[in-house]
Formats: sequence, C-alpha cells, structure tokens
Amino acid sequence: MPCNVVVLLSGSGSNLQALIDRNSASDSPARIRAVISNRADAYGLERAKGAGIDTALLEHTGFDGREAFDAALMALIDGFQPDLVVLAGFMRILSGDFVRHYQGRLLNIHPSLLPKYKGLHTHQRALEAGDAEHGCSVHFVTEELDGGPLVVQAVVPVATDDTAQTLAQRVHLQEHQIYPLAVRWFAEGRLRLGEQGALLDGQPLAASGHLIRS
Ligand code: GRF
Repeated sequence: MPCNVVVLLSGSGSNLQALIDRNSASDSPARIRAVISNRADAYGLERAKGAGIDTALLEHTGFDGREAFDAALMALIDGFQPDLVVLAGFMRILSGDFVRHYQGRLLNIHPSLLPKYKGLHTHQRALEAGDAEHGCSVHFVTEELDGGPLVVQAVVPVATDDTAQTLAQRVHLQEHQIYPLAVRWFAEGRLRLGEQGALLDGQPLAASGHLIRS
C-alpha cells in the first residue's frame, strides 16, 4: 500500500508540482491522494487537476473563527485517509487541535535556514542581515510556528548582487529538491518523529536535520 498523502496549499503550488513530478512512477512509495486549498484562485489546484489528482476547496472566509475552519478542514482531510499531510505554501496559522491531531504526520517547508527567520519575508531578512548563506527547511509541524523538529535543510550561498527575488528563485529550486526527498523518506517508512526529534532510519537527525549544500 502506498503512503497516502494530502497536500494543502494556498498559492502557486510549485512545490506540489515537484512532488507530482517525483512521484509519478507507478512504484513510487507515495501517492498524492488529494490537494486542498483555502483559496479558489490557487494555481496549485490547476496543477493538481492537470495531474488527475482530486481537489477540494475550503474557503476560510466562510467560517466563524480559526477553530471552526480547522475542524472542517480536519474532517475534509480525514475523508481522504492520509498517512501524511504536506503543507506546501498553505498560508494559514493552524490551531493547536489541528497540529496535535496530525502529530508525527504533518510536514511543512519554510524558505529559510530555521531556526533563523521564522514567519514572512525571509529572503529580504537574510539579505538585510548580511548572511553569507540562506536556504530552506523541511520540518515536522508542532504547535510552535515554524519551530518543529527539522528533517532536511538545503543551504544556498548568498551572492553580493542578490536581490530578494534572485535569492528566492534559487531557494525555490532547492525547495523542489528537499521536499520530495523528505516525503519519499516518510513514505518509505524511513523518517518519523520520535520523542526527542526527527529520526531517519531509526537514528536521531542533527538539530539542523539532514544538511544539503549546493
Ligand atoms: C514556498 O516558498 C514555501 O517555502 C513556503 O510557501 C512557498 C510556496 O511556494 N512555505 P509554492 O506555492 O510551492 O510555489
């Protein structure tokens, strides 16, 4: 039985596309069962339809508060019986109930070398700090925003003439490498969340997760 994956997104879905491209082989251990968006105009929904994947739209604007939306979202997700839920540019802060419900089977990707630059505008903040290196991180989601145990990070050197846009483009390319990798590890049963953090093949990962330098 392949690992059943539900992807949540709000935007372009280039990370979804990378997951689709890497998981199209019939012997792939992961199967993207459904893509769910809170925004009707999310291009990621079109990408999913183009790949023959079920889609669902659940607009948060129709709900009275975060808890009510998250409860409806959980019911929708659980209808697809996921082994893994993948946040791929899902622009919502998730309630504690939601995060606890999917503990150990909820992954996120963030465009910085966490724990640096949680939240938004990460590329600009890395440039303003004069960092020589920037990058992206895949992590298990816990109740601390952008703070869960790290699985894999890709390091991108910062060039002296980089702008937030050029840096974002290079980081994005790395996101498309490390997210499919982390999902494959999970689907193969190699990656899991232990008491103390992320484990790969039963061994604790370093605090930074598995580190990839380009
Ligand atoms: C990515 O930068 C990801 O790190 C962040 O949201 C963005 C999603 O991009 N969480 P895309 O929609 O996958 O192109």
